[in-house]
Amino acid sequence: MVRNPEVFRKAQEELDQVIGSGRLPTFDDRGSLPYLECILKEVLRWNPPVPLGIPHRVMEDDSYRGYHIPKGTTLIVNIFAILHDCLEPEEFRPERYAQKTDLPDPREVVFGFGRRICPGRHFAESSVWCIMANVVATLDISRTPEDQERDTFPEFKFTSGFVRHPQPFACSIRPRSSKVTTLIQEAKTHIDL
Ligand code: HEM
Repeated sequence: MVRNPEVFRKAQEELDQVIGSGRLPTFDDRGSLPYLECILKEVLRWNPPVPLGIPHRVMEDDSYRGYHIPKGTTLIVNIFAILHDCLEPEEFRPERYAQKTDLPDPREVVFGFGRRICPGRHFAESSVWCIMANVVATLDISRTPEDQERDTFPEFKFTSGFVRHPQPFACSIRPRSSKVTTLIQEAKTHIDL
């Protein structure tokens, strides 16, 4: 969101229109926030957390698009490549999912495949949505004042390894208003009870 302020602004506009500023978003709002849904898909597509999945072993002879795959073969599915097989794959552009598209839904790819598909996928996907919706509703995220002054963006670097995530970078994260601080404190009271 630091590198794509226009995406963040659009997400805030959508959320403000649907929810207003008097409460925090809940799962009941999910169906009314289509642009946020596009961002969730684009986040998963742009840098899938497990880019090569977990290796699988073929238990019996198989074939795929004319290729014979003998029993016992270890298969590594290139999740990253599947999700980058699109126009301008390095661009972070949630709009690519706004219209009807032939692109695969990243949620059907990032969690792996078959019998050993990630059992935490529904929990993970719902948690990410919930965090995203509440971040968009309550916080302003932007470049640091230094980056703004120099008109530069923080470099994005990812860890390498089986699970991939962004390396720390400097940015500015502030409450959108004093009202949201109260809303968060109220929500916390419910959790503490
Ligand atoms: C965005 C978050 C997550 C992503 C992208 C993800 C992705 C994956 C992938 C690609 C696999 C390998 C599937 C395969 O063999 O084809 C996997 C396996 C697994 N995941 Fe996740 N996962 C996520 C979150 C979670 C969470 C939150 C949990 C637990 C609450 C979880 C638990 C597991 C377990 C136990 C396996 C091994 C399943 C098996 O081999 O039978 N994952 N995950």
